[in-house]
Amino acid sequence: MKRHLLSAADLSRTDAELVLETAAEMLALADRPIKKLPALRGRTVVNLFFEDSTRTRISFEAAAKRLSADVINFAAKGSSISKGESLKDTALTLEAMGADAVVIRHGASGAPHRLAHSGWVHSSVVNAGDGTHEHPTQALLDAFTMWRHLGNLDGRRVAIVGDVLHSRVARSNALLLQTLGAEVTLVSPPTLVPVGVEAWGVETSYDLDAVLPKADVVMMLRVQRERMQGGFFPTPREYSRRYGLDARRMATLQDHTIVMHPGPMVRGMEITADVADSDRSVIVEQVTNGVAVRMAVLYLLLSSDSQEDTSL
Ligand code: CP
Repeated sequence: MKRHLLSAADLSRTDAELVLETAAEMLALADRPIKKLPALRGRTVVNLFFEDSTRTRISFEAAAKRLSADVINFAAKGSSISKGESLKDTALTLEAMGADAVVIRHGASGAPHRLAHSGWVHSSVVNAGDGTHEHPTQALLDAFTMWRHLGNLDGRRVAIVGDVLHSRVARSNALLLQTLGAEVTLVSPPTLVPVGVEAWGVETSYDLDAVLPKADVVMMLRVQRERMQGGFFPTPREYSRRYGLDARRMATLQDHTIVMHPGPMVRGMEITADVADSDRSVIVEQVTNGVAVRMAVLYLLLSSDSQEDTSL
């Protein structure tokens, strides 16, 4: 296996299917009385989080611990970053402590790539979300969740709905789901479509009601108001009316269609509480699957004999 996981674009179909199959084995451990494996005993995983996170940070920690690795959690808040320390010096400090894998979330797009190719660290680097760029393990856990509900994803229609402009989840999902044979449609207001989206190879639409009845999966995205400068257009009320998933819209879905959200979600904005808590919603399952998928990623990266400086 290769050394880093930086982008969903680096995953071939064979790579991605290996992660999903390994994740299925990891998930089966949850039914055993003893959920831990000794696979990464003596290895050290550092969670390096420069941006806030609930699901990703906790699930990487749980994943590493279930594989018996030692885990060091680093959060920018409360660290020497506030005194002006650079990414390089933070990385050299981790290297001095013997990290085998660094899981990094950073507000700057490309920060994990910089770390992986800098020569500052010799560990595997896993992108846990960089700016508005990518979140490959989220895409893997989303694909795993779809795969468990729908089987093979060839020809399956996935609608990704909302603030695509600021969403690293949308980009990683669009890349990975197409690798796995799915057809992706991005649905968003014209003001929240990224420049150059044509290069993603997906369909785009402004009309949620036209897309929903054909979808096998509906993935709702949060509006990332914290990344918007100069206000938010359309207004929250108008956004919910045109792009929110509520009970009326849910009734137009096919019987087998599942509703997903990567979290964190804002109930009442992009999704109503009754839809988020409905039988169609697999949002909590996504979180459970996230641990299994991240176990698979850490296991495949760290148990490999390959030392080549390439990405997974
Ligand atoms: N989906 C996701 O990345 O959630 P967190 O920001 O809570 O990690």
